[in-house]
Amino acid sequence: MAKIPVGILGATGAVGQKFILQLADHPWFEIRELAASQRSSGKRYQEAANWIQSRPMPESVRDMVVKECRPDLQCEIAFSGLDSSVAGEIEETFAQEGFWVFSNAKNHRMDPDVPLLITELNPEHLEIIPRQQQNRGWKGAIITNPNCSAIVLALSIGPLHQSFELERVHVVTFQAISGAGYPGVPSIDILGNVVPFIPGEEDKIETESQKILGRVAENSFEPADFIVSSHANRVPVEEGHLECVSLSLKRKATVEEVIGCWEEFRGPKQVQGLPSAPAQPVVVVPEENRPQPRRDVEKYDGMSALVGRVRECSLFDLKFVVLGHNTIRGAAGASILNAELVVETGLIKR
Ligand SMILES: NC(=O)c1ccc[n+]([C@@H]2O[C@H](COP(=O)([O-])OP(=O)(O)OC[C@H]3O[C@@H](n4cnc5c(N)ncnc54)[C@H](OP(=O)(O)O)[C@@H]3O)[C@@H](O)[C@H]2O)c1
Repeated sequence: MAKIPVGILGATGAVGQKFILQLADHPWFEIRELAASQRSSGKRYQEAANWIQSRPMPESVRDMVVKECRPDLQCEIAFSGLDSSVAGEIEETFAQEGFWVFSNAKNHRMDPDVPLLITELNPEHLEIIPRQQQNRGWKGAIITNPNCSAIVLALSIGPLHQSFELERVHVVTFQAISGAGYPGVPSIDILGNVVPFIPGEEDKIETESQKILGRVAENSFEPADFIVSSHANRVPVEEGHLECVSLSLKRKATVEEVIGCWEEFRGPKQVQGLPSAPAQPVVVVPEENRPQPRRDVEKYDGMSALVGRVRECSLFDLKFVVLGHNTIRGAAGASILNAELVVETGLIKR
């Protein structure tokens, strides 16, 4: 079967480069277009991009000419790794002109008619798409994936919400520097240090979690009814967001029941066979001192949330640690999985 041509907006950036790596050998999608700012357009990709990945730049993109982010690209799917200062308007223009935009930017995540999709947890949120198209007069659509910390948290607490209903969640994050893009945090600020502030991050973690685990309502989403409180910290780790979570449940469960819930969780059948879907969305690691970013972040192709240190909590019901790959499951990999689901549902024709 012929592959579906796709484009990458913001192809030169940190997330754009991850898109290139994740899509280079994709069984359904083929990179047809690369686009970025006027600084890069007209240049061959290898000259335009400051390649910061440890894996080499795929041969297939080296000589592709980077275009401007105008909606005349030869593809129907546009993956967006655009900077949020420009993403909002560009993504809307593309959706208006018939593109299916899979966005990593914050701009449209909380729009009432835009899904904040995690395929394993809320695939039914795609039901809002016809209303989005009707309300806005768009031929295409915008589908977002959550902030890179919010997605790691949601993957771990989502199955518990479905089985036991969450009441309160408290999370402290230890976020990798790659989450701030390139060049990101100045080295003098982060080497041998912890920065206990990431602008806008705590608000995103708190509100996005409720939207993700909420339900589709008349013309928007009804947020889930639990409280989230978060502390966001930047730490001198290259890749992988680690989060310490304490929570209480409306229906009480033992530590063993909670571990069983994660181990059995697979997400909906329709998602399980998708090319980028992890075999197990949540993996419980048994070692008492794991997961650790350096040792565990690349496991399971960076698409699973790794949970460890599950135990009772004296303030809440239980507590645990979760680790997720912030530029794969927290960005490019999540967007690609979202697009696979949209193709699988027939909204985009193969
Ligand atoms: N890094 C992460 O872990 C992560 C995780 C989840 C979500 N995100 C989000 O993903 C997005 C990209 O993040 P990043 O870390 O990849 O940022 P980045 O490295 O700074 O890349 C930004 C991209 O946007 C392009 N761009 C900037 N101004 C533009 C303009 N006026 N017109 C068209 N393109 C323009 C840049 O092109 P040029 O190279 O030509 O300037 C570049 O390709 C952000 O919205 C970020 O919040 C990042």
